[in-house]
Amino acid sequence: LWTPAQIIEDQIERVREQVGDRHVLLGLSGGVDSSVVAALLHKAIGDQLTCVFVDNGLLRKAEGEQVMETFGRHMGVKVIRVNAEPLFLSKLEGEVDPEAKRKIIGNTFIEVFDEEAAKIEGVDFLAQGTIYPDVIESAASKTGKAHVIKSHHNVGGLPETMKLTLVEPLRELFKDEVRKLGVELGLPYDMVYRHPFPGPGLGVRILGEVKKEYADILREADAIFIEELHRADWYHKTSQAFAVFLPVRSVGVVGDARRYEWVIALRAVETIDFMTARWAHLPYELLETVSNRIINEITGVSRVTYDVSSKPPATIEWE
Ligand code: XMP
Repeated sequence: LWTPAQIIEDQIERVREQVGDRHVLLGLSGGVDSSVVAALLHKAIGDQLTCVFVDNGLLRKAEGEQVMETFGRHMGVKVIRVNAEPLFLSKLEGEVDPEAKRKIIGNTFIEVFDEEAAKIEGVDFLAQGTIYPDVIESAASKTGKAHVIKSHHNVGGLPETMKLTLVEPLRELFKDEVRKLGVELGLPYDMVYRHPFPGPGLGVRILGEVKKEYADILREADAIFIEELHRADWYHKTSQAFAVFLPVRSVGVVGDARRYEWVIALRAVETIDFMTARWAHLPYELLETVSNRIINEITGVSRVTYDVSSKPPATIEWE
């Protein structure tokens, strides 16, 4: 019989058997999969779990605080937060090529994670939020899109220096099953049913060079968009919604003066499998509210556009 409670019990038993009294390391991203693994392992082995949360400076607004709040303070999970924003930004400086940006973000993540892992004594296991579709995707060797740590540790195997055995309690589960487990484990509904967020984060939503100024503007714009989607009861009617930063200056008029400021694009899609997608037909009133708020509340933005492209040929991310 398949119930979330049953699966949790089975997995707890399996993990305890595999791990014994040894220690497990987990890269916590704040996404659904790694969050559910954290909650599950904490229940199974408590203090034998240490999570590393890498803040790359490309996260959504308040994301780092939320992760620390939920896992650190509420659940009592051991979480080490690494502030790696300066490192990521300096490595990304001057890079405009999308694939190169992805590589830099991925490699820097591994570098930071491995460095943290090396500081923790006596770790024998590495836990991963690998889910069934990741297993299939790796098998089809469709690399490049999977979350960095997943593609790094699963597809290519463990890094040479890290002799760790994998713990992957979600390996046989689909996303909707993982979500049900998350709810059963007591994770906040909003965390479990949040829209997907790419591993390279805002790095793929800032076109061209990534700069702190752009990331800060984008975080604010995105937060306004998401807040208004919730308020209008549209968040869960879309599969994914976010803001994109365009590094072009467009004219605006304030009083008598012309100002040349940045452009924010809004993207919202409806999709079942993320392979094809339709742009969400958001109400004009909602778009108007979001646009007004972004332009009035964020210094440096003079124009907001809404993306009405379907996938294919347009992808969901702008990259
Ligand atoms: P595209 O832009 O290819 O995106 O239509 C399809 C879905 O994949 C997500 N995406 C990623 N997810 N790591 C991830 O974990 C990535 O590097 C990555 N790139 C794109 C995207 O957000 C959308 O949901």
